[in-house]
Amino acid sequence: MSELHGDPDALSMACPRSAAEELAARLPPGPVVELCCGVGGITRALARRGPVVAVDRDLRRLAANRRNLARYGLADRVQLLCCDLRRPALRARKGYAFAACVLDPDWAPAGRPPRVWTRRLEEMQPPVPALVALGLELAPRVVVRLPREADPVPLASLGRVQALPARRARRFHFLLLQGDEAPGGSPPGTWYPGGGDSSREG
Ligand SMILES: C[S@@+](CC[C@H](N)C(=O)[O-])C[C@H]1O[C@@H](n2cnc3c(N)ncnc32)[C@H](O)[C@@H]1O
Repeated sequence: MSELHGDPDALSMACPRSAAEELAARLPPGPVVELCCGVGGITRALARRGPVVAVDRDLRRLAANRRNLARYGLADRVQLLCCDLRRPALRARKGYAFAACVLDPDWAPAGRPPRVWTRRLEEMQPPVPALVALGLELAPRVVVRLPREADPVPLASLGRVQALPARRARRFHFLLLQGDEAPGGSPPGTWYPGGGDSSREG
């Protein structure tokens, strides 16, 4: 991710550009909220298609994200918020403020380096089931980037779960969750056709 600036850990976790662009192209039209935006591997792709509210707890990463967006003339499309999503100040009334919510948690348990992944969603940072539940309060559709080996079972009670392989991603995929109240399901062709190879770098 050499075209992004940021701390080495954040860069090692950043979503490869091709996968981020593939994801952004398949989201429904409208504003997007991104939780765990880091230095902006996904934010940049989302901002190219419309307004974004992007949240992370790390102020330095948010500052780097802002600089990365500015380099591409996209800074005015994104509102960056600093928030610990384990205790979110974000709450939405039903009616949905956003067309979609994109989540990209840290796959390592607390206190471990980013390369030490867990397959247990509850151990990721922030814990993924609670993060997805928050996402479904904000938008009818939630997409979460996860290692392929992560166990999705804890998400089944939250909504319909569908895997969206990223074409060049070998080690991760996206899971799409749609709450029971999602209007009309996904429009045909909106989501990934499938395939695959790349990384949380490669
Ligand atoms: C995988 S990285 C995000 C990568 C980013 N999507 C990209 O492509 O550049 C995970 C992010 O989650 C953030 N994070 C971890 N725990 C958090 C929490 N409790 N609240 C908010 N953000 C958190 C970290 O600061 C980190 O930037």
